[in-house]
Amino acid sequence: MAYKWSDDLLTGNMQIDNEHKELIKAINDLLDACSKGKGRTELERTVKFLSSYTKTHFAHEEALQIKYNYPDYNNHKKYHKYFVEQVENIHKKLLAEGSNIVLVGEINNKVGNWIINHIKREDVKVAQHIKSKLK
Ligand SMILES: [Fe+2]
Ligand SMILES: [Fe+2]
Repeated sequence: MAYKWSDDLLTGNMQIDNEHKELIKAINDLLDACSKGKGRTELERTVKFLSSYTKTHFAHEEALQIKYNYPDYNNHKKYHKYFVEQVENIHKKLLAEGSNIVLVGEINNKVGNWIINHIKREDVKVAQHIKSKLK
């Protein structure tokens, strides 16, 4: 299953939205590599890219939160840390086991669905906060 970008994922912050689009594409590329039985090189490439892009995006988002004094920064940072751990866990399992149906399920639940919910519940609040500070 591929994740589709839709406008209900827009936070209204252009930088954050563009990075979210890239993140969803990275998740789809990984799922694609897993489900289409692509080789190990492609599995490793896609999971590594997802892992590094996640860290880049979270660092940007956290820097914006500090810059604009986001009141829920500490919790938000914890959510990000949790997600990074999930991706690293999946990375390790992929290296050890290769792709399998259980892992594809984990990628959907712990990565794809998680990020969609996080964007809608948390990142939207961050973008609104930044917008309110810019007025
Ligand atoms: Fe976030
Ligand atoms: Fe985000």
